[in-house]
Amino acid sequence: MPRILPYGDESIREAAAALRAGEPVAFATETVYGLGARTLDEAAIARIYALKGRPSDNPLIAHVLDVPQARTVSGRWDRRSLRAAAVFWPGPLTMILPRAGAVPRAACGGLDTIAVRSPVHPLARCLLYAVNDAISAPSANRSGEVSPTSAEHVAHDYPEVAGLIVLDGGPCRVGIESTVIDLCEARPVVRRLGSVSIEQLVNVLGPVEVDIAHSQGASPGSARRHYSPRTRSLLLDRASLEDSIARERGAGRRVAAVVLSRLAIDADHVTALPAEGDACAAALYDALRRADAAGCDMIMIERPSRADGIWAAIQDRLERATS
Ligand code: TXA
Ligand code: MG
Repeated sequence: MPRILPYGDESIREAAAALRAGEPVAFATETVYGLGARTLDEAAIARIYALKGRPSDNPLIAHVLDVPQARTVSGRWDRRSLRAAAVFWPGPLTMILPRAGAVPRAACGGLDTIAVRSPVHPLARCLLYAVNDAISAPSANRSGEVSPTSAEHVAHDYPEVAGLIVLDGGPCRVGIESTVIDLCEARPVVRRLGSVSIEQLVNVLGPVEVDIAHSQGASPGSARRHYSPRTRSLLLDRASLEDSIARERGAGRRVAAVVLSRLAIDADHVTALPAEGDACAAALYDALRRADAAGCDMIMIERPSRADGIWAAIQDRLERATS
């Protein structure tokens, strides 16, 4: 079993020692929990790929305390990247920049670029401060499945990893993965939607392109099927939700519903998501995990009616979870 450690001086020291010894450590960030290794430790990075079951060409995000630490793993800190960091760091924005020579290629899926992000969660920052090195960390879940937003989620996903340290920073405040922006192109390209919205990026960086590829490729977190429960899942408009659930149940199938509205729904298991956007994002993955654990034949999810701001990222995750 993993060891969930409460966040404090002693657990941070123990986790930092483990990272320096090449052991993986799971830790809270404001977005989702990460499974970390030192970016410069090639053998430890290989263990992270193995634990995730992640294809070796799917690059990791390096977590850093600040721009000076980011400079140890990435290059081309021009006006654009400096400005984005000044406005959005620390926080849920990941920037893709040229990879520094010291970083093993394997830490970046073989690419010449590296994704860097400075988390704002105090636990992640204390850990970075204690290790005094960049920490590469994918979300602490098995490849393709729903990301963890609590220490319990991580322990649930890795029951067989004896002694894995999980630093418990409570439930993640943001709840969905960071926005990813590629600053290696002439014009910035958004590669993954997150809680830093396109509108916010345009305000700071000027025009941006959006290229959320739907196939495994340059940005594999963009693979269409991702963030998925194991149970077959469907995304439905409010108008057809009730009828669809009734039809499936009429045919003898057990249905778990994930709904946004407060209206009562007749299903075998119901999880209600908050109607406000930020709160909905924060509760989303726990709701998907609960629905998955209910042991039903299928999950039916109510499609949000909005697609602006954080709702664009929520819609994106729901579409991937159900494709
Ligand atoms: O919020 C987050 O970003 C969380 C927490 C732990 O920080 N991390 C996370 O990592 O979501 P992961 O590995 O699950 O997703 C990393 C995403 C993927 O979509 C990956 O393809 C993209 O970042 N990425 C990383 N390096 C890249 C690169 N050099 N070029 C293009 N995409 C890259
Ligand atoms: Mg992930």
